[in-house]
Amino acid sequence: MKNTIFLCFAMLLFAACNQQRPEANYDIIPQPKEVNLNDGKPFMIIASTAVYYEAGLQREALFLSEYVNDLLGYGLEVREYQGQSNGIVLQVAKENFDQAEAYQIDITPKQVHITGADAAGVFYGIQTLRKSLPIASSEKKMPVFLPCGTIRDWPNFGYRGMHLDPCRHFIPLDSVKVYIDMLAMHNMNQFHFHLSEDQGWRIEIKKYPELTQIGAYRDGTVIGHNGNLYDTIRHGGFYTQDELRDLIQYAAERHINIIPEIDLPGHMQAALACYPQLGCTGGPYEVWKRWGVSEDVLCAGNEEAMRFAEDVLNEVMDLFPSPYIHIGGDECPKVRWEQCPKCQKKIKELGIKGDERFSKEDYLQSYVMNRMAKAVEARGRRVIGWDEILEGNVSETAIIMSWRGTEGGIEAARKGHDVIMAPSSHLYFDYYQSEDIASEPMCIGGYLPVERVYAFQPLPEVLTPEQQQHIIGVQANIWTEYIAHFWHVQYMALPRMEALTEIQWNNPQERDFDAFVERCRKMTQFYDLYHYTYAKHIFNPQVWADTVETNLATRKPITLRQAPAEKYTYEGAGVLNDGNLGRGAYNSGKWLGFCGDPMDAVIDLEQPAAIKQVRFHALTNKGAWIYNPSQVKVLVSDDGENFREVAHKDIPISTWEDRDGIFAYEVAFEPVTARFVEVCVRGFDLPEDHSGYGNPAWIFVDELEVN
Ligand code: ACM
Ligand code: ZN
Repeated sequence: MKNTIFLCFAMLLFAACNQQRPEANYDIIPQPKEVNLNDGKPFMIIASTAVYYEAGLQREALFLSEYVNDLLGYGLEVREYQGQSNGIVLQVAKENFDQAEAYQIDITPKQVHITGADAAGVFYGIQTLRKSLPIASSEKKMPVFLPCGTIRDWPNFGYRGMHLDPCRHFIPLDSVKVYIDMLAMHNMNQFHFHLSEDQGWRIEIKKYPELTQIGAYRDGTVIGHNGNLYDTIRHGGFYTQDELRDLIQYAAERHINIIPEIDLPGHMQAALACYPQLGCTGGPYEVWKRWGVSEDVLCAGNEEAMRFAEDVLNEVMDLFPSPYIHIGGDECPKVRWEQCPKCQKKIKELGIKGDERFSKEDYLQSYVMNRMAKAVEARGRRVIGWDEILEGNVSETAIIMSWRGTEGGIEAARKGHDVIMAPSSHLYFDYYQSEDIASEPMCIGGYLPVERVYAFQPLPEVLTPEQQQHIIGVQANIWTEYIAHFWHVQYMALPRMEALTEIQWNNPQERDFDAFVERCRKMTQFYDLYHYTYAKHIFNPQVWADTVETNLATRKPITLRQAPAEKYTYEGAGVLNDGNLGRGAYNSGKWLGFCGDPMDAVIDLEQPAAIKQVRFHALTNKGAWIYNPSQVKVLVSDDGENFREVAHKDIPISTWEDRDGIFAYEVAFEPVTARFVEVCVRGFDLPEDHSGYGNPAWIFVDELEVN
């Protein structure tokens, strides 16, 4: 009775206000494959709507209730299904579907039925319902109308994944859980967790405790892109086995399998720092402080090193129930093996010969990979390896993760391997997503806008339909050499993840980027709701102005009291008032760079003029040691010798939570008449939380305007 009254009241309220009523919109990401709506009276979700679950689906019901609470401000009551004829019903009916993970939503005026081929299918139906709901911001507890009809949906790829590297920069467990939440919202079912690297070992292994006691920490990190400068800040962390069990459970509840990766036999320097006898030279080694590919790898001729790798994999398999175990295999230089008596002895023992395609050391790597694959397969699991493992004679049972383009995947599919497509050309989310890299947080390089991700075709046309069957999935990777904070991981992932999701779930034949962007826009409301950081390039395409309006300072005589850094002087002071805006990177030639010294410019307006404002732009790129200005002073003079201060502004330092980019600074003051204007812009010293702490920050300034 109470419900009926509330319902009538709500309907009256909407009629009276003639306001657009909050309605579900099934145009979401990934786009459901079949949506057939009818003119029936909509179903209405209100605070007293219940979710009824069939046995085995209680957790899914609780998720739905929680999502509704997040979005609408009220949770739904969760009850076991006993044939009730109202509410939202969750059921599994395998016989209704052709494939796993499929679902159907039937919306009638009195009931919403979410039926899955399995619990995962029900979960994806719930995700679809969730993403269809409006987000009540101010008006909480509002009813929401669901247009009636039927939605049928199923995934194109059975393997839908994302990878994360918590090794280059450690990512705390709670943040990894948020990452898993992001994957769940995007119907992904595989989380590839890269747990070992040259720069840090992240998984507790009971048999080799030093791996985390020593190998999880490095005593410093190279500053910026690899050079000779290092900070001295200890960086690291690891996940205990208890924490990982908790994480595995957390992911499993969200129908996500965690694939652990132990990267072998290269990318092992952190392990060698703990157990130097496992390397060809015997060390000493340190947990690596620079980025790249270390030449020090596991000694393939040392039986102890091979047993170490098998032991680690066995402990990993004790912990992770994953049907897939990633054993790496990428970027393993062979220089140590070429010189190592033990490795050369092993090559002889195994009767390995090089040929025109591969060296004997390449085949030695195949020996390592095949041996590890055997250990993994002995326990009923399958190995995944990066596409380098094709260089030799890897066994056909290995799944190939194609990262150096799609070529490795194509070759592998032709040879009968199953393949996961993760090419750096389209799916490396550690690359820049805008060409205006000065406005981006520093990253490894590359250029991979959302459009390019969305355009990716995971099924190469050069493969026959039978060979294409071997492409079991699609994955994007996030490496963290230049990503030290989780907000930055999110920024790199979102919204490129939307495009990835479309490819994984739908692999659409026809692609309509504009329509896709509109659906992305809805997703940003979820990002905001959950406080996810995301990139906005596709929503506000930037039309960069290259010039500023001519102003009193434009192309007037200008001098600098202190020279810019030699590397960033270009045509000198004139760069500052040539009418061209500083754009692009700090080294684009359009910025003057100062380190320690202020930018202190005197402009001769050539005749007295009334002035009341000074403006300029400066660049912030914290990873590159470039901070915002700390202080701006404006002084004026009639004779060019005696100056008096007319304005002074202090600016707070940018924090890691703040965006990098190009920012305008403006100082306004009481109008004053003068011929000479001096603008003095100072920088900060790098703060304590910066790897270059103790050094002055750079400032990059351009286009001084006087109005
Ligand atoms: C890789 O990016 N080295 C797999
Ligand atoms: Zn060796």
